[in-house]
Amino acid sequence: PTRKKFVAGNWKMNTTLAEAKALGAAVAKGVTDDRVTVAVFPPYPWLTAVGEVLKGSPVALGAQDVSSEKKGAFTGEVSPAMLLETGCKYALIGHSERRHIIGESETFINHKVHTALEEGLSVVLCMGETLAERERGLQERVFQRQVYAACAGLTDEQFGRIVIAYEPVWAIGTGKVATPEQAQEAHAFVRSKLRQLYGDKIADSTPIVYGGSVTPDNTVGLMSQPDVDGALVGGASLKADSFLAIVKAAG
Ligand code: G3H
Repeated sequence: PTRKKFVAGNWKMNTTLAEAKALGAAVAKGVTDDRVTVAVFPPYPWLTAVGEVLKGSPVALGAQDVSSEKKGAFTGEVSPAMLLETGCKYALIGHSERRHIIGESETFINHKVHTALEEGLSVVLCMGETLAERERGLQERVFQRQVYAACAGLTDEQFGRIVIAYEPVWAIGTGKVATPEQAQEAHAFVRSKLRQLYGDKIADSTPIVYGGSVTPDNTVGLMSQPDVDGALVGGASLKADSFLAIVKAAG
């Protein structure tokens, strides 16, 4: 099966408005074809402005989170409909920083996935084990639980709008990238769980991208693995040059 590569830049809680617009514009200028699906995930307040500079380019806009609710009295939350109106196509859900720092549960993540897909967004669903879990050999149990919990109850059509991001927590922002073999092993396992739970079509068509200290130098090795379908880039997405070099290396 041929799955198109997907490369996303998660800017996290970085950039001023001026920096975000400049970064978005530079990425839009540098991505001239659609060989690789490219998306950027600026902070909420800059979405509309970055959406403007991306207009006419193949680079898609995404949000770093989304509410589990559609509308109403949920102070501080941002709904899928609001994100769609800013020009977002994607929302990240279940990033490790939200699971581990903010304390989002598997049930809450599943609720967000359902709401986002029902409202028309596509979802980049993040998962991955901690260092302690890997040291105890528990990573496969963790993936199984996370895939099962986050995706419970989705229709096939909804699954068609999911990208899974495997991000080992020990590799995020640490400079310790997973080896291509470690990434491949994890991705193949996640794909095998998709096959077991949802069948061949979903297992073969769902992109599974890697995140955690991706740089232009380690991209080619990671992308050469059969089950690694792209990258979710944090730190290296804050400079247009390095992000564009990763996009190029993935293509
Ligand atoms: O969402 C992106 C990941 O958390 C990876 O971040 O590339 O800074 O390690 P990083």
